[in-house]
Amino acid sequence: MTDTAATYVAAIDQGTTSSRCIIFDHDGAIVAVDQREHRQIFPKPGWVEHDATEIWSKVQAVVAGALAKAGLRGRDLSALGITNQRETTVLWDRATGKPVHNAIVWQDTRTSALCRELGGDVGQDRFRDRTGLPLASYFSGPKAAWLLEHVPGLRERAAAGEIAFGTMDSWLIWNLTGGTEGGVHVTDVTNASRTMLMNLETLQWDSSILDAMGIPEAMLPEIRSSAEVYGTTSVGTSTGVPVASALGDQQAAVFGQTCYDVGDAKNTYGTGSFLLLNTGHRPVTSKSGLVTTVGYRLGGERPVYCLEGSIAITGALVQWFRDQLGIIREAAEIEPLAASVEDNGGAYIVPAFSGLFAPYWRSDARGVITGLTRYVTKAHLARAVLEATSWQTREVVDAMYQDSGVEITSLKVDGGMTANGLLMQHQADVLGVPVIRPVISETTCLGAAYAAGLATGVWSDLEELRAHWKKDAEWTPRMDAELREREHRNWRKAVERSFGWEE
Ligand code: G3P
Repeated sequence: MTDTAATYVAAIDQGTTSSRCIIFDHDGAIVAVDQREHRQIFPKPGWVEHDATEIWSKVQAVVAGALAKAGLRGRDLSALGITNQRETTVLWDRATGKPVHNAIVWQDTRTSALCRELGGDVGQDRFRDRTGLPLASYFSGPKAAWLLEHVPGLRERAAAGEIAFGTMDSWLIWNLTGGTEGGVHVTDVTNASRTMLMNLETLQWDSSILDAMGIPEAMLPEIRSSAEVYGTTSVGTSTGVPVASALGDQQAAVFGQTCYDVGDAKNTYGTGSFLLLNTGHRPVTSKSGLVTTVGYRLGGERPVYCLEGSIAITGALVQWFRDQLGIIREAAEIEPLAASVEDNGGAYIVPAFSGLFAPYWRSDARGVITGLTRYVTKAHLARAVLEATSWQTREVVDAMYQDSGVEITSLKVDGGMTANGLLMQHQADVLGVPVIRPVISETTCLGAAYAAGLATGVWSDLEELRAHWKKDAEWTPRMDAELREREHRNWRKAVERSFGWEE
């Protein structure tokens, strides 16, 4: 490529705690990054909200910030891709562009009772055959149903077509492409597959589920592929850029890690951790507590499906250790503190702050610390915090094996916590296979950029993208097998103690 205008692709990652914009060059290398946090709103125990208007202004700021750091203007970008925290639900007024309520975040548990009610005699798996998902407060449909029930007059306005529903991709694309001045109201198949409202086979909204949840179809976005031009930006410094991809953040990481073949898997360590395994063009139903989800769909091509092990709390446990307990001041301090002792001193922490997701799906679970004696210090607890991430990952890897019969031989990892060598070593130890980190560990943004670049001709095919992937670090298992099994048994006992708490 000779023309700079065709060389750069930007990706917005609208995450749970912050929004980021990364600009990539044609080799997939990072040119500039800008990032801003937004407020976490906790109105009641178990409730988590975001202000979608604040998020939209932070997103505009990070796009402008990344362009400024790169010394580029909007017109230098060939395309803009979107990736986002999934399931978080916002409803807004189409005429004013204002949200009707704070967004309800994926971690929020307020819809637990509603989910039990929806399950009726059939239970948690009532919609699993069509959506791939168990009825759990995690997913968007029940969150939208809760808002329709609790915001006065909303149901009537939604039925009249005045209200728009969106996950963060829809909210951003609508705003980026003009908002009240003709913004497009779309979502992509990966985000739609997390609403519990889309049929995984037809990739369309399922009218019988909409009826069961009392959700009017008039409020829903059009479901599109993950890589196509939805519209062009019409705001700020980046006017006129094609918005050319949208993927939920975990699916974007699959794409950025170049997991394009059946059997390829990755684990992303963010607020939570999400392990996805490419199962090809057919959805595979889980019998072991995983969810079935759309991995990606490139334009008119056949969709690629994944099995996913969703873990709600991993990095967020480090934040809790820092902010709520005040034991460390910076997240990075946890590694030297944990490394100052040999082991966990017998302590285990099960961070069931939002119940437990995969493979248990227990909304009655709450966090527990077990194994306390006077011997245990804050350093042992720091270890237990980190080990909670690797044990939860081990449990979803075991579930993947039970569902697919495929034993993983290594695990590709990415996300912020992969900077923690102690954790990565423990992860390799408890899995018994090597853990491998790529040079670009910002795979979420990279995946969104790749998809947007494919849709606009910046890159020609998956092979070209695969050639960009390079190994940065590898951890090989060192733990004695007997110790691993003993630790695993203790972890399982701790998990059992997290069950059965009343609200
Ligand atoms: O399903 C929730 C997930 O998409 C959140 O990801 O990275 O924002 O914690 P993250």
